[in-house]
Amino acid sequence: MITHHFVDRQKLQEIHPFTRLAALLADTLPGKSPLTDGAPINLSIGEPQNQPPHFVAEAISQNTTGWSRYPLSKGNPDYLNACIEWMERRYSLPKGMVNPAKHIIGVPGTREGLFMTALTVLPPPKQGEEAPVFLIPNPGYQVYTGAAAAAGAEIVTVSATRESGYLPDYTQVPEETLKRTALCVLCSPSNPEGAVADPQRIRNLIDLARKYDFVVAFDECYAEIYTNTPPHSAIEIAADLGGDLSNILIFHSLSKRSSAAGLRCGFIAGDEKWISMINTTCQVGGAGVPHPVQAAGTLLWQDEDHVIENRARYQQNFKLAQEILGNSIPVEIPAGGFCLWLDVADGVQATIKLWQEAGIRVMPGTYMSHKDKTGTTPGDRYIRIALVYDIDYMALALTKIKDVLAPWIPTLNNERSKGDVA
Ligand SMILES: Cc1ncc(COP(=O)(O)O)c(C=O)c1O
Repeated sequence: MITHHFVDRQKLQEIHPFTRLAALLADTLPGKSPLTDGAPINLSIGEPQNQPPHFVAEAISQNTTGWSRYPLSKGNPDYLNACIEWMERRYSLPKGMVNPAKHIIGVPGTREGLFMTALTVLPPPKQGEEAPVFLIPNPGYQVYTGAAAAAGAEIVTVSATRESGYLPDYTQVPEETLKRTALCVLCSPSNPEGAVADPQRIRNLIDLARKYDFVVAFDECYAEIYTNTPPHSAIEIAADLGGDLSNILIFHSLSKRSSAAGLRCGFIAGDEKWISMINTTCQVGGAGVPHPVQAAGTLLWQDEDHVIENRARYQQNFKLAQEILGNSIPVEIPAGGFCLWLDVADGVQATIKLWQEAGIRVMPGTYMSHKDKTGTTPGDRYIRIALVYDIDYMALALTKIKDVLAPWIPTLNNERSKGDVA
């Protein structure tokens, strides 16, 4: 389903998923969790809980002179080269396709990168003219909405449902909307569902963007967290298409890859014209990545061992979720990411129940979604559970989730189907 929205910048706080979750649970005392001390368990946020490798701290302490120097907005050559070499290895890119002077910029994270991109790419509407359109997946990461609101763009949400493979099908967007589109996001692996776009889907979107001359921001921040097959990148598809990077930007960071969300270290690569303009936006109003952080980031992009270990932890957690929940609450193991997108019939009620009875905090899917024309959201039936802790901790939490929800979901479904008949 395709739905148009304007979001008032001053109301962003009200629609922020974590604000809504805090308000939902504000007056409810948490139940005793299955931890020995009964303390609440937070599975609502996708923040990796394992530590980045020890050489991060070493690299930072060896580069302390860098704290007194302002960072270059674009990033240091060593850092940018490490990012490019990683892309060349990971996506088998031809050497030289990504030019450090033209096609890449360092950013603190994909969040900042996406926001700065929206501010740069979305033209301000002139009086009497229609606002530019920003195509986003529904549900999706809240920063897309926030960035659109800041830029005064019209958001057009495209539903990602089980039927659409949990990804938005932008080829269904009407031509009059595509003509007004300036920016579009495809997140793969996607948050919250963990769906991965196949090469054909990426290729179709690149073709569409070139035909209607809009930019696609490929949010690939979960690229290294996958279950079986490494997800494809838009830059890989661009290489197959001859190496032209026009209309394409890819976004990566060390937050998920290296469990280093607090480091704030990432990059954007792609279209030369837009990279240059985003660099200017960042020069004017952004915060570059500090020199010592770039030194640590360089080493992280060069190392694969810690990433392999990280990925294995999430794969184990998914296997565990399948074993614990599998027979009682149907689990769809996603192709990527580290979250379970669980159909629990009513995400908000399930969230309250888990908090009240088990001290477990999860994210209702509806808080990550926009209402469509039917007045419902594609996330209404779901909760998002971040499997970010170690396996013993996750085993306790998942067993409790099963105990609380498994008897309740069928009752709710029954009540609803009776309601439908009546
Ligand atoms: C889909 C998606 N994009 C971007 C981000 C931002 O991550 P970072 O700025 O740490 O790279 C997140 C964080 O959770 C995310 O889930």
